Amino acid sequence: MNNKILCLSAALILTVVSCKDDKTADVTASTETVNTYTGTPMSDEYDAKIDSIVGQMTLEEKIGLLHGYSMFTNEGVERLGVPEVHMADGPLGIREELQRMSWAPLGLDNDFATYYPAGAGLSAAWSPELAHTFGRSIGEEARARGKDVLLAPAFNIIRTPLGGRTYEYMTEDPFLNKTLIVPYVVGVQENNVAACIKHYAANNQETNRGTVDVLMDERTLREIYLPAFHDAVVKANAYSVMGAYNKFRGDYLCENRYMLQNILRDEWGFKGVVISDWDAVHTTKKALEAGTDLEMGTNAPSFSEFWFANPLLKAVKEGTVSEAEVDKHAKRILKLLFNVKAMGNTDSRAKGSLATEAHYKDAYNIAAESVVLLKNNENLLPLNTKEVKSIAVIGANATAKHSQGGFGAGVKTKREVTPLEALKAKLPQSVTINYAEGYKTLFKPKKEMKFGEVTQEAKETITDLDPAMVTEAVEAAKKSDVVVLFVGANRDYETEASDRIDLSLPFGQEKLIAAVKAANPKTIVVFVAGAPYDINSVEKENSTIVWSWYNGSEGGNALADILLGTVNPSGKLPWTMPKQLADSPAHATNSFPGTESVTYKEGILIGYRWFDTKNVEPLYPFGYGLSYSTFKLENAKADKKSYKEDDTITVTVDVKNTGKQDGKEVVQLYVSKAESAVERAAKELKGFNKVMIKAGNTEKVNIKVPVKELAYYDENSKGWVVEKGNYTFKLGNSSKNITQEVTVNVE
Ligand code: BGC
Repeated sequence: MNNKILCLSAALILTVVSCKDDKTADVTASTETVNTYTGTPMSDEYDAKIDSIVGQMTLEEKIGLLHGYSMFTNEGVERLGVPEVHMADGPLGIREELQRMSWAPLGLDNDFATYYPAGAGLSAAWSPELAHTFGRSIGEEARARGKDVLLAPAFNIIRTPLGGRTYEYMTEDPFLNKTLIVPYVVGVQENNVAACIKHYAANNQETNRGTVDVLMDERTLREIYLPAFHDAVVKANAYSVMGAYNKFRGDYLCENRYMLQNILRDEWGFKGVVISDWDAVHTTKKALEAGTDLEMGTNAPSFSEFWFANPLLKAVKEGTVSEAEVDKHAKRILKLLFNVKAMGNTDSRAKGSLATEAHYKDAYNIAAESVVLLKNNENLLPLNTKEVKSIAVIGANATAKHSQGGFGAGVKTKREVTPLEALKAKLPQSVTINYAEGYKTLFKPKKEMKFGEVTQEAKETITDLDPAMVTEAVEAAKKSDVVVLFVGANRDYETEASDRIDLSLPFGQEKLIAAVKAANPKTIVVFVAGAPYDINSVEKENSTIVWSWYNGSEGGNALADILLGTVNPSGKLPWTMPKQLADSPAHATNSFPGTESVTYKEGILIGYRWFDTKNVEPLYPFGYGLSYSTFKLENAKADKKSYKEDDTITVTVDVKNTGKQDGKEVVQLYVSKAESAVERAAKELKGFNKVMIKAGNTEKVNIKVPVKELAYYDENSKGWVVEKGNYTFKLGNSSKNITQEVTVNVE
């Protein structure tokens, strides 16, 4: 095989492509690769059989399929060979087995799983290939644990930096979101497990999530909040969708005909199962007829009292809901079971595997590409272990474990390597570690609260430092050559069911950072967190800042490898870090959190779209992240001058690694349209490509942009419109650092 063929075939699998002796070798774009990820559509081949099985069922049996019968299953029909649908959370790994009738753990010793990086970490890696790895790997675990449906991925758009699930979700950008979600879903379903994409849709806050009515214009819905759901259904063929808690335009999402029937089924052709979020159904007839198939929730007062249980039986008997309606939903559930081989061809069903070394390696690979180097002004990083003889490792996050917490996003795992453990294992013996905890963490409810009622105000927390701990930290800092200070948040502070009240760093950490920095100017501040914080003072006073995430079983190892330079950082922020909360669009427009309703007043100008269009300086922009190398973009050009609507534009740019270390860069392509019939964001991400480039080498990088991707949603014609005229493609390595421009024309 010649070198070029080898490179191209490798590129189909990995983004890491380096063709030593061919400096301008084409690099297959990540965005090009992702378009080749398509899932298997649901097959209709079992339909006749399904009709016959449902035909043999009693009304009670059919209704049993449509509601929770234990916390994470519906009811099967044993006499007809119909198993229960086994579901499991969640996005960070397969949740431990719970009691059938309560949220209490079952206490098994065979349900330890791999803890994978949280969504924010996965998206910071900007790699569709790693998103596929993630989906495949977690799907294997779901299968090994006997699941039919994985309640993941969770990818609601990050509208406010305060969002409690920001760490669990992916990004503020719809293009990055969909580009990662498609391969994730495909990966999960390769294992004969249905992905349940959640939470459909416009579920962007935890405050009043069970009641709030979300209002936005149609264009914003289509351009910002739906694209990833659309692609997950249309391209990845997700087999199930989770209806969200909140209302949308007056109707709960689990009884929202517009969202569940008109868009999901009629427009997108969804053939799968709509599963309610837990306790998100509020009616029988309306919810069922709108399109929810399976009502799930808490066993209170009892599963038989669920809207889709006895009340449904009564409604059918009284004639307010037809039996044909029940049949329709029962058939969808059987269709899912056949399509994941839980029925029919069960012998050929994937077996999966759980918590294997290969899965830990998957988690490591994702974590290693997700860490974001925010600042390295004095080149304290990577740590030079030849010169450094002592390191102060300070901060609760050096030893904290983050796999548990966040309701459905908790993972019971045997392996979670902390940063301190990893540094101890990886540093040469000649280096002494001086450890100090630095600060205490506490964040727990002040009183017993019901599920879904938790708010930040109702928490007991620590805001002041313990002087003795500060003294200990300062002493450790003084006697060490360099300090690595692990701060940030935890999974109590950032969690489902509550949004944060502000951006401040919890537990008095800001003061600790200042004290440690004063004691030793060679301080590297490492954040472990999943959402933006106010780090202005840290930014001002410190030369070196690293951002890591709730980063999975191997998070500590990945972080240590970045600090030691074995891995060159390549993560990029998946959201904007504002200077202050009031700069963020939902807050600048005073439209968060609302009370009974919330209107998304910023419209399409979410995240960096707002900051760029309104000329507001962020602290760190979307897409930003440094490397130990530097990269230069040159000679950007498009393959033609003029394009038609069905064309695909190929933009090529030379990317030179001008540093001394091999490394990966994420080349980002944003589009701008100067003259337009509608409001346009100053920039919109429309392509990206993460590439490995050897020190001193130049790679030609392709980014493919289908012309249709340039369309806006036209509310009048209720369709997508590609405007004619000039478009400017802006290329750079963050939404702010644009160094190349190419203008193309659409005829
Ligand atoms: C969450 C879902 C989760 C479900 C079951 C809900 O509170 O919103 O994401 O899958 O609980 O644990």
